[in-house]
Formats: sequence, structure tokens, C-alpha cells
Amino acid sequence: MSACEQYGVPHEEIARAAALLRAGRLVAFPTETVYGLGANALDAEAVALIFKVKGRPNTSPIIVHVSSAEMVGEVAAAWPEKARVLAEHFWPGPLTLVVSKTAAVPDIVTAGLTTVGIRMPAHPIALALIDRAQVPIAAPSANPFTHVSPTVAEHVRRSLGNQVDFILDGGPCQVGIESTVLSVVEDLPVLLRPGGVSRQQIEELIGVTAIAEHVPAGGHASPGMHPRHYSPRTRLILVPDGQVPAAGEGAYLQVHQPAAGRVREAIIMPDDPSQYAARLYSALHELDACGYDWIAVETPGPGVEWEAVLDRLRRAADAGA
Ligand code: TXA
Ligand code: MG
Repeated sequence: MSACEQYGVPHEEIARAAALLRAGRLVAFPTETVYGLGANALDAEAVALIFKVKGRPNTSPIIVHVSSAEMVGEVAAAWPEKARVLAEHFWPGPLTLVVSKTAAVPDIVTAGLTTVGIRMPAHPIALALIDRAQVPIAAPSANPFTHVSPTVAEHVRRSLGNQVDFILDGGPCQVGIESTVLSVVEDLPVLLRPGGVSRQQIEELIGVTAIAEHVPAGGHASPGMHPRHYSPRTRLILVPDGQVPAAGEGAYLQVHQPAAGRVREAIIMPDDPSQYAARLYSALHELDACGYDWIAVETPGPGVEWEAVLDRLRRAADAGA
């Protein structure tokens, strides 16, 4: 049995999805982080459909997914030593490397930037799909703009179902939050978005990195990083010490501290950052469907290994503020 068949996806489905991508259509597919909404990255019209379906502003660049080093060569104009070292270590995996782009990458993919974010996903279905399509695949998370990213195919069906030409169902995503985005354009790499690979893991390999928020906007601006990303529709609040709101009805995401007030529902979350991340978006999707007045989340951590989870929770909380 092949790796794809183990995920319940027969070869014919990969072939059909790849043919659709080559014909300029949209395919949702699983990666190890979240489900992606894919289009041929070299086809500007196909990529325009992604922006339309997501309701995403065209100022937000899209990550290009590759399945081989040759494909990197098609889209990357430069491949600095640090990119080489990081890719060798973390690819396939949840790390997106931002480098100078080639002319083959249409401007719409990169929101007009001269750089492109590239990653090789660690999921057999994603790799088989890209390999079969024989073109790099531009893919943001397969959710309407600003909503919580999908970690199972059902999330995609519910939010974008009839606007996507095909959905490959590979079951739940193992990492559960998006890839780390790191710019290696300049000598000092800049962390644009924390994610599946931690800053410590990166720094152990290539030394110190800067954090986007600490770098003046300009060449390093990460246009997709505004606060209203990753938010459920229900108001989300981060609470220390279990202090849930007194008014209204809500749910509580607990790590240690039980709710200090009345809640309709509590979900116990893992006290491990990777396991917490793997569970977070599915928990938010479930609770968002309940129509509560609020979702209170016990602030997890402290500790640098919680950086990515805290980033997503803070953005979701700011959105409702
Ligand atoms: O895990 C992931 O990265 C998922 C799966 C599907 O691979 N994709 C994803 O894509 O999260 P999206 O579009 O939701 O987030 C892409 C982010 C943007 O918000 C932006 O911050 C950054 O990547 N990005 C992409 N290209 C960039 C570039 N050229 N310069 C700076 N930032 C870039
Ligand atoms: Mg997204």
C-alpha cells in the first residue's frame, strides 16, 4: 500500500486533483500543518481565484509549495547558505523560507513583493499532488480570510465547499498550526511568523534570528501578519487564573486552572505545546459552531516553546477586542 493509500486517498484522486490544478482550477489538500487551498503557482489567473474564494486582500502574499529541489530552482532566484542548511534539516516540514523570487512567479502570488515564501510540506498526499501536477502549488490555508484555519477536510467543506473544485481528504493534520515563516533574504534572518518549527530549533542551526515586530517595516514587512488572522467568529479572550466573564454563556479551554466562574463547556487541553497546537484549531472550530457569547482560554505557558501557540491565541483575542 502506498503512503497516499494509507491516508485513504487512492492514486486516481491524486491524478484527478493534479489535472485540475494544471487546468487552472482550485484543489484543497492536506498538509502536516493545516489544509491548503491550492492553485498552480505559475498561473496568475488560477492564483487570482484563491484570493476571490478566500476573500483575501491582494496585499497578502501566498506560500509556494514544492516537492523537489528542482522546483525550488524554478521559483527561487537565490538560495542562500542559511536556506540550504535549514531546508536540508527541516524539509519536508513546517518551515517556509522567504527568498528572492524568479520572474516565473507571477506578482499576484507575492503581492507584488520581489520575494517569495517557499516550503516543502511533510505530507505524502501534498507531495504526491505537487509531484504529479509537476508545477509548484500556491496555497494559503483553506479558510475564508481571517477565520480559523482548517485541520480536517470537513472544516474546508463547511466553509468553502462549493467554491473548491476538489477536496482531498487526508484526515486530521498532525501539526495543527501553520508553518514558521522565516525570511533569509538578508544576512540576519527574520522570523515573520512563529509556527510548526520553533525559533530555538532554527537558532540552534543557524544562529540568532530577528523577530519581525522588532524590525522596522519595509523589506521585511509580512503583509499577512495583521491581528485579524486566525480568529473564530465567537469572541475569544485570554484569561489568567480561570477568570471567565460573569455575563453571557461560554466555553473554556483549560490547561491547569479550572474556570473560576460558570461555563457551559470546558475542554482540557494538553500541557505540551506541540500537542496543544495539534488540538487548538479543531477545538476552536467545534466551539465556534455552538453560538456561545465567548470562548475563554487559559493563557498557556510560560516558556519560549509556547511562542507559536501564544501568537495565534493573541491574534484571535485581539480580533474580538
Ligand atoms: O502551514 C502553512 O504555512 C499553510 C499550509 C497550507 O502550507 N499555509 C499558510 O498560508 O498558512 P497563509 O497564506 O495562510 O499564510 C502565508 C503567510 C502570510 O501571512 C505572510 O505573512 C507569509 O506567509 N508570506 C508569504 N510570502 C511572503 C513573502 N514573500 N514575504 C513575507 N511574508 C510572506
Ligand atoms: Mg491563513
